[in-house]
Amino acid sequence: MRIAYLQFAPAYLQVEHNLRAVEQLLTGVEADLIVLPELFATGYFFRSRAELLSVAEPVPDGRTTHRLARWARELEATFVAGLPERDGDRIYNSAVTTTPSGYRGRYRKVHLYDKEKTLFAPGAHGFAVFPFETANEEAYQLGVMICFDWYFPEAARSLALQGADIIAHPSNLVRPDCPRSMPIRALENHVFTITANRYG
Ligand code: ACM
Repeated sequence: MRIAYLQFAPAYLQVEHNLRAVEQLLTGVEADLIVLPELFATGYFFRSRAELLSVAEPVPDGRTTHRLARWARELEATFVAGLPERDGDRIYNSAVTTTPSGYRGRYRKVHLYDKEKTLFAPGAHGFAVFPFETANEEAYQLGVMICFDWYFPEAARSLALQGADIIAHPSNLVRPDCPRSMPIRALENHVFTITANRYG
C-alpha cells in the first residue's frame, strides 16, 4: 500500500485558487491514500465568523467535497481532507473522506483549539473507523482525527480500539509538540499515523 500526504501554503479564503494549486501538485501522484491538511482550501486563522461563513460548505454537496470526489476517481485513491462544514446555523471543522466511488463519510473535530471554539461547533459523534480497500484490494481500517485531537491520547486510543490500522490526521499545527507526540501515538497504539500540515 502506498500513502501520500500533501503539504502546501494555502492562500487565505481563496478556495478556488487553493483547489487549483492542490490539483497541480497532485499531478502524477500514485497512492492508495492521500491526506491533505485541516481546512486545506480556506486557510486556518479566520479573522471573523463572517469570513468563515463565506467559505463554509455543505457536505457532501459542496464544491470542495465534489472536487475531492473527482480527484479520488481520477487518481484511483482515497482522500482525507479538512474543510469547514456548514450544517444549518452550525459550522464544523470537518474532514471528509472520498474514494473512487465518491463521498464516503465525514468526521467533525471533537477537540477544538483555542479560538476555534468561538467559530466552530464541536463534533458530537466521537471517533469512528471504516473499512477501505486499496486499488489492489488490500483491506485496511481507517480512522480520522483532526489536529488538536492529538493532544488527547484517548482520541487515537479510541480509534485503535475500534480496529484502526491507519489514522489520517489533517492538521494546521500551532503547538510545537505535535511532531514529537504523533510517533508516540502510533507506537503506543500500534497504528500508522499520517499527519498532513499546512505550511506558510
Ligand atoms: C489545531 O488544532 N489546528 C491547533
